[in-house]
Amino acid sequence: MTATFITGGTGYLGSYVVADLIERGAFDRLYLMSRTTGEAGVEKLWKAMQLHWTAEKFYAELPKIELVAGDLHGPGLGLTDRARERLLEDCDSVLHVAASLNRKSSKACFNANLRGTLSVAKLVRDIAEARGGLRRFGYVSTTAVSGEREHEVVTEDASIDWDRSDYDPYARTKKFAEHMIRELLPDLPIVILRPPTVMGDSEMSQTAQFDMIRFYTWMVDAPAVPINGDTRLDFVPANFVGSAISELFTKPELAWDCYHLSAGEGAKTAREHEQVFQAAGIRTPFFVPGLNAPTMALSGQLAGAPRGTVSLAASLMKVFLPYFSNDVVFDNTRVVTELGRRPAPFTDYCVDLYRWVKSVHFEYPYAPLPARPAKASAATRAAE
Ligand SMILES: NC(=O)c1ccc[n+]([C@@H]2O[C@H](COP(=O)([O-])OP(=O)(O)OC[C@H]3O[C@@H](n4cnc5c(N)ncnc54)[C@H](OP(=O)(O)O)[C@@H]3O)[C@@H](O)[C@H]2O)c1
Repeated sequence: MTATFITGGTGYLGSYVVADLIERGAFDRLYLMSRTTGEAGVEKLWKAMQLHWTAEKFYAELPKIELVAGDLHGPGLGLTDRARERLLEDCDSVLHVAASLNRKSSKACFNANLRGTLSVAKLVRDIAEARGGLRRFGYVSTTAVSGEREHEVVTEDASIDWDRSDYDPYARTKKFAEHMIRELLPDLPIVILRPPTVMGDSEMSQTAQFDMIRFYTWMVDAPAVPINGDTRLDFVPANFVGSAISELFTKPELAWDCYHLSAGEGAKTAREHEQVFQAAGIRTPFFVPGLNAPTMALSGQLAGAPRGTVSLAASLMKVFLPYFSNDVVFDNTRVVTELGRRPAPFTDYCVDLYRWVKSVHFEYPYAPLPARPAKASAATRAAE
């Protein structure tokens, strides 16, 4: 039997990875770590997978998935001895996708992204020791590890720079997590996968992740935006990122051990975004780059105001504006060479995405889990 252990499979990108791994038939079994198991865990998984699968498909594939109770915050990931033994016995690879993306909370990022990744690294080491080797350890990181930059094309090898400041606790902890993995597991086959800003899907309008696209629609609807029209925006669709993670994780040989899953120099400028909205008859804002510094300063102050719409808007501005205004793109030569494909340009689908997220008021219309067919209920049990 071939099996792998995955963290974060119930999240937005994780759901794409799980769907793609199953479609590829890469493993007989996926052990998905989740804080929620049993029937509630199956419901949570359905919430994630309904973006990709009908209920019928979900129940058909469910027997290949085993939910393993675990938490990045817990000692030893909170795994029971029995679950740990099974992972050591069955899994020849680990894919670590889970993280806290709470850019405002040092505590959440520290606990999930550092303490949690340390526990995952220790489990990987134990699996490799128990089995006398490991096929691969995949770590989903982020291009945000490259820190504060402006007007640059960043390559994988030039990304980590310890003399550079980080945007936020999320970027800082993901950066140190990469370092920790490399230091602790120097002899194991590791692949680090760094998506840039992920928004929407180039093949459907629906998304289940709204933070960044909410900010994007605000910018489209604003009378003026504090960015330069020539700024390149390295935004990629989740379907490209999910399938790239899945393929790079399962490919027998890889030429490199770190990949940007980005648009690179194919990234479109803000002005090219403006053109597709105008062509669709949607009014667009003026570019006023001179407002960037005052906007950042003001949002820094207002983000600390008592909880409310103003502080929320200011926090979003403070956290996301640098990703829209700094004109930084991430070289994607490696991923394009390795996979022979590149992400669809964001401008191909941004208008449909914009219209859809507004039509659902930034909330995915989740469907409840339909009744389980009699045959499937016996097949899947959550490991305690
Ligand atoms: N989305 C992007 O734009 C983007 C861009 C670059 C990189 N990334 C990276 O991609 C990965 C996935 O991001 P995403 O957007 O899919 O995030 P997401 O939708 O928020 O999913 C996060 C996943 O992590 C799990 N998780 C969080 N805290 C946990 C804990 N304490 N214990 C166990 N599991 C925990 C969540 O499980 P629950 O279901 O239990 O909450 C969920 O499955 C992350 O490593 C992120 O750094 C994302």
